[in-house]
Amino acid sequence: MYHIISIKDFEREDIDNLLARAEEIDTQGVYERSLEGKLVALLFFEPSTRTRMSFASALARLGGASICVDSVEGSSIIKGETLADTVRVVSGYVDAIVLRHPREGAARLASEFATVPVINAGDGAGQHPSQTLLDLYTIRQSMPLDAIDVGLLGDLRYGRTAHSLAYALSHYDVTLHTIAPSGLELPEHLLGELKERGMEVIAYEDVSDILPSLDVLYVTRMQRERFPDSASFLNVAQSYRITPEILTGVKNSLIILHPLPRAGEIDPRVDDLPYARYFEQAKNGVPVRMAMLQEVMGQ
Ligand code: NCD
Repeated sequence: MYHIISIKDFEREDIDNLLARAEEIDTQGVYERSLEGKLVALLFFEPSTRTRMSFASALARLGGASICVDSVEGSSIIKGETLADTVRVVSGYVDAIVLRHPREGAARLASEFATVPVINAGDGAGQHPSQTLLDLYTIRQSMPLDAIDVGLLGDLRYGRTAHSLAYALSHYDVTLHTIAPSGLELPEHLLGELKERGMEVIAYEDVSDILPSLDVLYVTRMQRERFPDSASFLNVAQSYRITPEILTGVKNSLIILHPLPRAGEIDPRVDDLPYARYFEQAKNGVPVRMAMLQEVMGQ
């Protein structure tokens, strides 16, 4: 059975094929109601706007339907049911499961008990493969993933979108520039993997030091809910903010991405600058997730 749990399970060719399919859907409207009659469970045990709604939208456009659980409180998890039991039961109701869960590794575990395909829609500070695919898709709309400099800014320790994206970019000719407050750098094990894969990764504390050389700036939110205490959150919360002023001297072709939601990291005045691509990025979630749903359900 085909699950999508981690971007690490993808070869470069798999990524390229999926993005090509998304592009066909997006630009030529090449899709039929190929998932007519299919039912997907959206199990979201953490808040979500974009991921949940774009999966639901993607499915509806392909003729399928979704049923969802929106919170731990609204499900039997609150009564002490294990995730393993939940996915076993839900497997009997649907043709695929999309799962978001606060615990790292939850999607992998779910895939071991599910009898239908599982798509990881974010597991704690772990991975977020569907976000990464739409991030890559958005970059490719502006430039080839070839000889480019990508900056990852913000909470790189707890930000799962940064983890998945950094790994995916190691398939391509990309130099990675990481800009994070002290203590919130990319996890050591991931850094080790990237370097083993031959990726050049350079760390900075101040974004201005690298901004003029970047082709892509990927901004992330401080993952407040994953900080061990609120004092450590407050210490770093205001230290990274992209404003029009800081962007003087950047390349004309720079694109700024953010998985959203933003919580002050990007000044709204940046939205009107030509660099801002985060709303298009969010929109790209639909064709990319249509391609993913077709893939896991074998259509
Ligand atoms: C991200 C997430 O949930 O990891 N949001 C998303 O899916 N677009 C980023 C975040 O919450 O900061």
